[in-house]
Amino acid sequence: MLTRLRELRDLNGKLVLITGASSGLGKLVAYEVAARGANVVLCARNLKALRKVADKCKEISQTDAYVVELDVSDPDAIDRQLTHVLQDIGSVDILVNSAGFGIFVKGTRKM
Ligand SMILES: NC(=O)c1ccc[n+]([C@@H]2O[C@H](COP(=O)([O-])OP(=O)(O)OC[C@H]3O[C@@H](n4cnc5c(N)ncnc54)[C@H](OP(=O)(O)O)[C@@H]3O)[C@@H](O)[C@H]2O)c1
Repeated sequence: MLTRLRELRDLNGKLVLITGASSGLGKLVAYEVAARGANVVLCARNLKALRKVADKCKEISQTDAYVVELDVSDPDAIDRQLTHVLQDIGSVDILVNSAGFGIFVKGTRKM
């Protein structure tokens, strides 16, 4: 059981894609998985902020960190950038969705 837990915590060589990685929870998750040896693919709209997070991830993990400019409200951009990730970086082992969007319609919520 403990061995299995250790295996789950060890992310060496795993590719972890995180949306919303330029700040908040996504950024903190990026640092945490980098500390466990993961290669991270950091996605958000603000490239400058993403690059800063990537630099820190590299420092922590001593391995690669990639940045991908992505607006998750744009389905074409998701297709395009995921194709880029799969072709040029590798297949994703773990997906952390920390950015999302919702469509709120007034008056349709039942209490
Ligand atoms: N913090 C909490 O205590 C808490 C609790 C429960 C649930 N949540 C939920 O968890 C999620 C993250 O929260 P947070 O506190 O980390 O928020 P945050 O600090 O505002 O971070 C949001 C992240 O999402 C990215 N983002 C926003 N819109 C985007 C879009 N259209 N396309 C791509 N990336 C986008 C932002 O980057 P760019 O602006 O660079 O794109 C940023 O990296 C939110 O959905 C929030 O509702 C948070």
